[in-house]
Amino acid sequence: MSTEKTAKIKFYSGEEIPLELHKVRIVQKLHLVPIERRLEALREGGFNTYGLNTTDVFLDMLTDSGVNAMSDNQLAAMMRADDAYAGSQSFLRMKQAVKDVLGKEYLLPAHQGRACENILAYTYVKPKGGIVPTNYHFTTTLAHITEYGGKIVELLYPEAFQIASSQPFKGNMNVEELEALVKEVGAGNIPFIRLEASTNLIGGQPFSIANMRQVRAIADKYEIRLVLDASLLGENAYLIIKREEEFKGASMERVIKEMTNLADIVYFSARKLSSARGGAICTNKRDEYLAMEPIIPLFEGFLTYGGMSVREIEAIAVGLYETWDESMICQSPDSIAYIVNELTKMGVPMVTPPGVLGAHVDTGAICSHVPQSQYPAASYAAALYLISGIRGMERGSLSNQRDENGNETYADMELLRLAVPRRVFTLSQLKYVIDRVKWLYDNRKLIGGLRFTYEPPVLRFFMGRLEPTSDWCEKLVKQFHKDFGDSL
Ligand code: F0G
Repeated sequence: MSTEKTAKIKFYSGEEIPLELHKVRIVQKLHLVPIERRLEALREGGFNTYGLNTTDVFLDMLTDSGVNAMSDNQLAAMMRADDAYAGSQSFLRMKQAVKDVLGKEYLLPAHQGRACENILAYTYVKPKGGIVPTNYHFTTTLAHITEYGGKIVELLYPEAFQIASSQPFKGNMNVEELEALVKEVGAGNIPFIRLEASTNLIGGQPFSIANMRQVRAIADKYEIRLVLDASLLGENAYLIIKREEEFKGASMERVIKEMTNLADIVYFSARKLSSARGGAICTNKRDEYLAMEPIIPLFEGFLTYGGMSVREIEAIAVGLYETWDESMICQSPDSIAYIVNELTKMGVPMVTPPGVLGAHVDTGAICSHVPQSQYPAASYAAALYLISGIRGMERGSLSNQRDENGNETYADMELLRLAVPRRVFTLSQLKYVIDRVKWLYDNRKLIGGLRFTYEPPVLRFFMGRLEPTSDWCEKLVKQFHKDFGDSL
């Protein structure tokens, strides 16, 4: 397996461009439909970017989940998959990869990341509720923990919420507040501490190993288990190599192990970490393994497939080893940094420093004229799709859930995430994104609000349907034609 490092590649021109270190051999045709059709598609999809079909989407930047490019070696491995209900060789290969890369002996397979969260919450939260301290919630994690009667407490430092910042590790857990919380509620009421690698909802921001060591020390002192959400582990490790003095120039292999060694239980969405499908929980503690083991056949499937196809399991095994390859892992974060740096130079407010998973647009600032009750980030997501065919994901108040009294809980930050899945987009496509985001910034005052026509009770951002509060979409179409003529 390649463990190639990425020496920075300099251009004679001095331009800082992310250079693709792969070649494209299988391609998929894209469609850029006219703006009138895009407006119709928005109406059909309830002005929610989850409601769009890919035939109407040009650049799909909704997520990296399940859409990272796979390698030739992953596809080759999928061909030799060993179909068996029990005792599949494919599972044993994944087990070996988890041991080699994540350093964990016991492996529990699950069909995707949220299934792991369900199992963890079922095992550790359901019996007596309690509080889960975390560096920040993820939507599905919060939903599972609250579903089983638990609560989440988010412990970040104030700079995490400063959208423009030079703090390299905005995902760091606030350890002083963590210790105070443990003293206040008692260790017995904390089923686990959860650290999310590259905190998704605050802009894909990493934590440092120094911070994780501090969290570990508190976990040890009070005997609380530490759970690592490793869905974006590779990218967090890459940014540690780039930003944390102690690990400058270290190998991905070493940094990943440093992180996983500090956790009692590691879980991940393999849709992000190493492949395009699946998930798993792993640990070195036999008692933790045994506590969760009976729940896998109940919710997922037998212990050697856990709801995944064996082909996916093979792809995960190969993908885990490929996570050691810095020249592969760098592709998405370096492209994100390119988008963020270019747009910042143009004056567009972005989350900085650039994180992982996607470039995050500060739609709270851009749409400061749209009240939070009219979902500025969702409005911006609809507007950007309308004028470009680019599908991003709302990461603001619409993605929040209502409190127990049915009141809105407004998000700390109103963001639009433009995901950059690994090795999917080309440089000219990134330039198109920058161009259209800048145009929309210059025409931001035309963006109006949205209101629900159907609001689902759980995870409302997925299936919710909305409508514009005025004719602002038509105004954007008019302005688009004025500036771009008959261009798509
Ligand atoms: N944890 C994190 C940090 C995630 O980003 C995700 C999914 C999950 C858990 C759940 O995993 O989707 O396999 O069930 N994030 C996707 C996203 C959905 O678009 O950011 P899953």
